[in-house]
Amino acid sequence: MKVLVNIFALAVLGFPALTLAAPPKCDGELPSPGNGNGTSSEAKFVIDAAKSQLGSSIEGAATDKTGNFYTANFGNDTDKNTIAMLNVDGTLSLAYKDNNNETWFNSIRTMKSGTADGDFVMFAGDVTGHRVVKIEGLASGNPTASDFCKDSKMLQPNDMALSSDGNLYLSGMNYTETSEVGNGDLWWCKADGKAAPLDKLHRANGIEVSSDNKYLYLSEAVNVGGAVTENRIMRYEIDAETGVKLENKAAKKTVFVDFKKLDQTEATDIDGMRCDKDGNLFVTRNGLGAITVFSPDGSLKSNITVPGMKSVKNLEFSGADGKVLHIVGNCDKAEGEDEATPAKGCIATWTHEAEGLEWSQL
Ligand SMILES: *[C@@H]1O[C@H](CO)[C@@H](O)[C@H](O)[C@H]1NC(C)=O
Ligand SMILES: *[C@@H]1O[C@H](CO)[C@@H](O)[C@H](O)[C@H]1NC(C)=O
Ligand SMILES: *[C@@H]1O[C@H](CO)[C@@H](O)[C@H](O)[C@H]1NC(C)=O
Ligand SMILES: *[C@@H]1O[C@H](CO)[C@@H](O)[C@H](O)[C@H]1NC(C)=O
Ligand SMILES: *[C@@H]1O[C@H](CO)[C@@H](O)[C@H](O)[C@H]1NC(C)=O
Repeated sequence: MKVLVNIFALAVLGFPALTLAAPPKCDGELPSPGNGNGTSSEAKFVIDAAKSQLGSSIEGAATDKTGNFYTANFGNDTDKNTIAMLNVDGTLSLAYKDNNNETWFNSIRTMKSGTADGDFVMFAGDVTGHRVVKIEGLASGNPTASDFCKDSKMLQPNDMALSSDGNLYLSGMNYTETSEVGNGDLWWCKADGKAAPLDKLHRANGIEVSSDNKYLYLSEAVNVGGAVTENRIMRYEIDAETGVKLENKAAKKTVFVDFKKLDQTEATDIDGMRCDKDGNLFVTRNGLGAITVFSPDGSLKSNITVPGMKSVKNLEFSGADGKVLHIVGNCDKAEGEDEATPAKGCIATWTHEAEGLEWSQL
């Protein structure tokens, strides 16, 4: 999401107990990130500025099993209380509009529900309402919504991750010129809807659960005097009792990726983060027009560029086979275009060889 400068969001999902061949070590040192040389490839627009009916607050990304893709802010910039659907046939439409016009959806997740094929519920994070809304009946075109989880002490939520057993993890930030611990937060919405704070840190944004439900990834950025000086991905161990594992009563975490060490792009914010079903982590770099892909051991796999969309915000796999990575963000302005005109919300895609985690669990 964009508040003052660039505030972004991310979310994820959790999954079944497929153990990875070589699980990352959970204590002590993680393998250092790889030294580059992954493959690089380009994403292409499916909704460009000319076709866009999406506002500049486009954010959040989710799929259903049919391969329809969802993102927030259908319409113009005042319509932050809406969820758009990009039908698998390529058409855009309004999927849901909240009754409260102050609602600001910035993150979305979907989860299998019911017994019929394709039945699902959507969780949508509302920044201004400090709540998660549960939306049912989307597949039948007759959506109904209820508050699932709410706490006015949450900073936002900015983005969300969902484990396959229905636990939600929420990130938030308070953008300040110089950040301190507490300008970012991590919350847990238990499967029964109860909210609990888990950690405080510098600005928190992208968030995802590993494909085996074991780890929680959360991005953290540091500001000093208006400049962004750090961007890293922290990793927590999920714990059924306490949300994340604790050490001396504080959330225990390790550095999974540090962009200062990796490629000196620490001044560019991490935004959305999502896993494929094998646990590879896809990370948007909002401002660089790129998605950086990491293996479950933290090594760099590849870099996907998104020409025409420097402000890449969030992403999720969708499409009929669940392998099409949909990337949402703002289309770059045309040369000479009025500064005051809001940028359009756009969608680009890139095809993977594996299904996304969310799609595979629906
Ligand atoms: C990366 O690619 C360059 C150019 O092809 C090569 O010189 C270098 O050895 C490669 N590094 C690794 C770690 O594979
Ligand atoms: C934005 O859309 C709303 C309806 O959703 C409409 O009332 C409003 O006039 C529109 N604003 C602009 C600037 O087009
Ligand atoms: C919501 O609607 C009220 C009443 O029409 C209006 O005063 C307010 O400005 C609107 N808020 C937003 C965020 O559009
Ligand atoms: C955000 O940070 C500013 C500056 O430190 C502080 O004054 C404000 O109370 C903070 N807001 C929240 C909601 O924590
Ligand atoms: C990924 O691509 C972006 C845009 O070209 C570039 O700025 C960044 O350094 C690349 N990162 C890696 C790890 O190659």
